[in-house]
Amino acid sequence: MQKPRFTLLQIAIHLYAWSSIVLLLFKFFTHNFSANPIQDLERATGRHAIALLFLAFACTPINTLFKWSEPLKRRRTLGLYALLYATIHFIIYVNLDYGLAWSLILPDVVQKPRLIVGALALLCLLPLGITSFDIWKKRLGKNWKRLHKLIYLIALLAVLHYLWSKKGDLFTLQGEILEPALYGFTAILFLILRIPAVRRLRASFPARKFSAKKENPQI
Ligand code: HEM
Repeated sequence: MQKPRFTLLQIAIHLYAWSSIVLLLFKFFTHNFSANPIQDLERATGRHAIALLFLAFACTPINTLFKWSEPLKRRRTLGLYALLYATIHFIIYVNLDYGLAWSLILPDVVQKPRLIVGALALLCLLPLGITSFDIWKKRLGKNWKRLHKLIYLIALLAVLHYLWSKKGDLFTLQGEILEPALYGFTAILFLILRIPAVRRLRASFPARKFSAKKENPQI
């Protein structure tokens, strides 16, 4: 029987990424947003960007926990989609929000710490996206892995950006902080799961190896 070209996980990732763009465009052009459609678009693209970033970030812990190797192959796709959404998010801000008035944009970014951390996250995401292809993996050798450790910093910057954009305060639990706080705790959990001692401990426990084929011989 011929092996399917795409796995279920691949189909799910592409479906999520493209259906969300189509839905946002549809809502925008059918005036199905609030009284401030540009802000809605900015927020929605920001939320998809951080969700995709964390899905990419989750691939190694999922492999560590469930010994499921396929997510490791999907990191690049998820990372590139996160970069795509963060770039659309940025373009909405500079173009739809500020009409490319750089004399207004630059002071706005410089004055708002939440935008500075957002900009830093995007600036760090760019080289990761560009070097995510095999040719760069070969060219950079050991430095490739070092460079891609930036994902830890990007995840924390994106969480801060989200939290400050929501004007939430973790210490007083003020504002709409639940989602950014959940992302924050998830980032901390993922970082803990990457500690070599924790990974060795995890590896010492036999785990039921998750594989689509074994679970579902039909596929
Ligand atoms: C130069 C880069 C960036 C700029 C200028 C920018 C700008 C903004 C602005 C203006 C908002 C607030 C929207 C509002 O409430 O009025 C926002 C929210 C947000 N941004 Fe960014 N952003 C940048 C990068 C990023 C990146 C890299 C990510 C994720 C990877 C991201 C994720 C988010 C999220 C999750 C929100 C909150 C959405 C919500 O309120 O529901 N942003 N961003």
